[in-house]
Amino acid sequence: MAIMERARQVLVGGVNSPVRALVKPYPIVVERAKGSRVWSVDGEELIDYIMGYGPLLLGHAHPDVAAAIAEQLEKGWLYASLTEAEVELAEKLVSLYKPGGMVRLVNSGTEATMTAIRLARGYTGRRYILKFDGAYHGAHDAVLVSAGSAAGHLGVPSSPGIPEECASKTLIARFNDEESVEKVFEDRGGEIAAVILEPVIANSGVIPPKKGFLDFVAKTARRHGALVIFDEVVTGFRLSLRGAQEAYGVEADIVTLGKIIGGGFPIGAVVGRREIMRHLTPEGKVFNAGTFNGHPVSVVAGLATIRIAEKINASRLASERARELEDAIHDALRRLDADYTVNRAGGMLQFFLGIEKVENADDARRADKAAYARLHEALRRRGILITPSQLEALFPSTAHTSDDSALFQEALKEAAQEVLG
Ligand SMILES: Cc1ncc(COP(=O)(O)O)c(C=O)c1O
Repeated sequence: MAIMERARQVLVGGVNSPVRALVKPYPIVVERAKGSRVWSVDGEELIDYIMGYGPLLLGHAHPDVAAAIAEQLEKGWLYASLTEAEVELAEKLVSLYKPGGMVRLVNSGTEATMTAIRLARGYTGRRYILKFDGAYHGAHDAVLVSAGSAAGHLGVPSSPGIPEECASKTLIARFNDEESVEKVFEDRGGEIAAVILEPVIANSGVIPPKKGFLDFVAKTARRHGALVIFDEVVTGFRLSLRGAQEAYGVEADIVTLGKIIGGGFPIGAVVGRREIMRHLTPEGKVFNAGTFNGHPVSVVAGLATIRIAEKINASRLASERARELEDAIHDALRRLDADYTVNRAGGMLQFFLGIEKVENADDARRADKAAYARLHEALRRRGILITPSQLEALFPSTAHTSDDSALFQEALKEAAQEVLG
């Protein structure tokens, strides 16, 4: 295909973010998208359950979001000065995620977690952070770290180019395993600035926390004087209007947001307790700055998205669609003589093949990725687009209908029969 051939000449792997290269049998070249559908330049019409990997809670090209963007474009689109809209967005985020707190807007989830970690280190004067195996917090050095030897909990770089000295400041525990958290804190509790966690892991497929696990992590961290950072880049506004803190009744000191709060435009946010946030420049000394921080188009798109999400109770609607997909997956896979499991948290879900239970990243890694990839391709041929990676999530939006769920169910029954039958 001509565009792909051109892409492979000038873009590494033919794409700009690696998961896009996994789409089989070749990456989708998109022409346009609307509501729950995406159209490729090859004339495919697909029901899209990737939805930009989470930001498009209201579906593609929502007219009210489009109107807000158009209105902003009339007034110019970059001032690198304060706007009322960014104050309004900050007020909204503070009221929902950290009443009495403060916000710094940045440009991506990656920047949000990078800033939150620097802030936690600057605030506590400690060097180490703790993250969980299989959680993803963006593409920066402190968090692109995998489990090293079980005895030391010291992370090792998960990419060439990350110095070991840097990765070794990141300690790794197992999700849903209280003992492993306890051990890390016993070992180095007094040196840990913060524990950062995806309250629901959305980057090893979907892995919800066991009952009481988040509370245990938060209490253990606080007992050792470490801050709790909830990375709600995915769960924010999706699990509920107030995200995982509300859904699981556990408070974080700092929350990182992204994705949905930009309505599909690049954004990230650090929301935290006032006395912590005040350590950021210019009030404090922990450095953060950005040409595009608080970008007017992202801000108005995010505000419009949040207003609509609030009005229509979008997280509940997305959750209903996700439940229909969960039922459809059971219906399609139960009839085959194969192990599988489905994990869902509100409006996000993923299924795993060849395994009966997934509670941590090791379980997720044991799932049958090759069979999943074949199923992804068989679904694409039947007009359904799911993430090509077993280790990502399916994200229904409020633009998806029960009819879409029924089409998903029919397509999955056929595709599963073809691939696994
Ligand atoms: C939980 C989580 N945190 C952070 C990020 C990084 O966000 P971004 O891709 O906007 O840099 C992601 C991206 O998928 C994510 O899922």
